[in-house]
Amino acid sequence: MDNRELITEINRLKTEKNAIIMAHYYTRPEVQDIADFVGDSLALAQVAAKTDADIILFAGVNFMAETAKILSPKKKVLIPVLEASCSLADSCPAVEFKKFVEKYPDHIVVSYVNTSVGVKALTDIVCTSSNAIKVINSIDPNKPIIFGPDRNLGNYIKTITGRDMKIWDGCCHVHERFSEKLIEELRNKYPMAKVVAHPECKKSVLNVADFVGSTAAILDFVKKDSAVEFIVATESGILHKMYEECKDKKFIPAPPEGDARNCNDCDYMKMVTLENILETLKNETPEISLDQEIIERAKLPIVRMLELS
Ligand code: 13P
Ligand code: SF4
Repeated sequence: MDNRELITEINRLKTEKNAIIMAHYYTRPEVQDIADFVGDSLALAQVAAKTDADIILFAGVNFMAETAKILSPKKKVLIPVLEASCSLADSCPAVEFKKFVEKYPDHIVVSYVNTSVGVKALTDIVCTSSNAIKVINSIDPNKPIIFGPDRNLGNYIKTITGRDMKIWDGCCHVHERFSEKLIEELRNKYPMAKVVAHPECKKSVLNVADFVGSTAAILDFVKKDSAVEFIVATESGILHKMYEECKDKKFIPAPPEGDARNCNDCDYMKMVTLENILETLKNETPEISLDQEIIERAKLPIVRMLELS
């Protein structure tokens, strides 16, 4: 089947089965184009909590589909590739995180949404990159905080809020690869360009950025800012929406260093294709299935976050 035929068949099945397709900004352009909703991880969780579709097909990575299942446990939540994990979530196994939490018993546990259900079940309140500062500021100022798993986001919000925070030493393989040296080299080539960066980037990269924010916040910034050129230090999938929404601006992907010099893709997000979306919708599998008890424990910290947003 060519793309046109795949899209026609996906749309037909979507209507027949009352399914909604949700996609993250890092997925392939053609996947974003057939989605009913494209957003950052906070917006995706908000939509998943409210949708009246019978089936949620989650075009994204595992933890995002799990979050949708936790928020809508009665719905069928499908994910085209069960193995589409997240290096950041994988850098924080629940068993190890439990030991870390037990070392600091009087701390409030804040976890980034990029975590397994097991980690969420050990958490007091979840956050995403777009509301992390708000979540931290909502906590009693006298309480020390455990933050996991992203050390870069953790250190960034620790600097901004000045809070006492113990930070798990995890990172995302995509954002960790950006280098301030290569960004500065690009800046010499595009002197008028503004640098936008996701807070999962290293401190040295955030230091040279004109704007730091979640995927949705970056998108909003480039739309409203008067600059016409931007160097983008986050996963390259976001460029699709940037060009769609700002047709007369130029977006230059920041190059990662090392072997991956020409590729700042999230391999996991890119596993989702039109072909596997169609197969998944047709067969209604793979499906996210979670134990009811873990759903109950992981739901509370996510609901606390949603109540703040
Ligand atoms: P956002 O919360 O900005 O969508 O980011 C999710 C993510 O996986 C970043 O790598
Ligand atoms: Fe996870 Fe990084 Fe991919 Fe985001 S870009 S889903 S943090 S591996």
